[in-house]
Amino acid sequence: MRQLKFSAIGLFFLFALLACAGSGEKGIVIADSKKYEASLFRQNCAICHGAEGEGRTLDDGKIVPSLRKAEHKFNTRAEIYRQISEGGNGMTPFRRQLTERELNLMADFVYQDLRGGQ
Ligand code: HEC
Repeated sequence: MRQLKFSAIGLFFLFALLACAGSGEKGIVIADSKKYEASLFRQNCAICHGAEGEGRTLDDGKIVPSLRKAEHKFNTRAEIYRQISEGGNGMTPFRRQLTERELNLMADFVYQDLRGGQ
C-alpha cells in the first residue's frame, strides 16, 4: 500500500514536470494572446516573420528568421531593440511607425515572450 502511494506521488510530479517543460517549449501563442504587443505583432511583424514568429520565406526568396528559440544573429535586448527600430537587411525600420514605448514593448516581447529571455 505504501509503495503504491509513493508511486502515485511520483507519477503526479512527473506529469507536473512534463506539463511545465511542454508549455515552456512552446511559449506564448500569439494568435490567442490578448496582449497589446501580440496585436502589434499581428499588425506589423507577422507578414514577414510568420503568424507565430516562426520565420518564413518571402515570395522573392528572402528568408526571414524565426523570433522563437533558435540561433539568433542578435542576442541582447539592446540589439533586438536596435533591429526593430533601425531595421536593415530586408527588414523595415519601425522607429517612425511605432512610438518609443511600443518599440520597447516589442523588444521585450521578442526577448521575453518569444525567446524566453535567451
Ligand atoms: C519586411 C519584412 C519584415 C518585417 C515587416 C519585420 N521584419 Fe524583422 N526581420 C526581417 C528580416 C529579413 C530580418 C533579418 C535581418 C538580418 O539578417 O540582418 C529580420 C530580423 C529581425 C530580428 C533579428 C532576428 C535575429 O536573428 O536576431 C528581430 C528581433 C526582428 N526582425 C523583429 C521584428 C519585429 C518585432 C517586427 C515587427 C515590429 C519585425 N521584425 C518586422 C524582416 C521583417
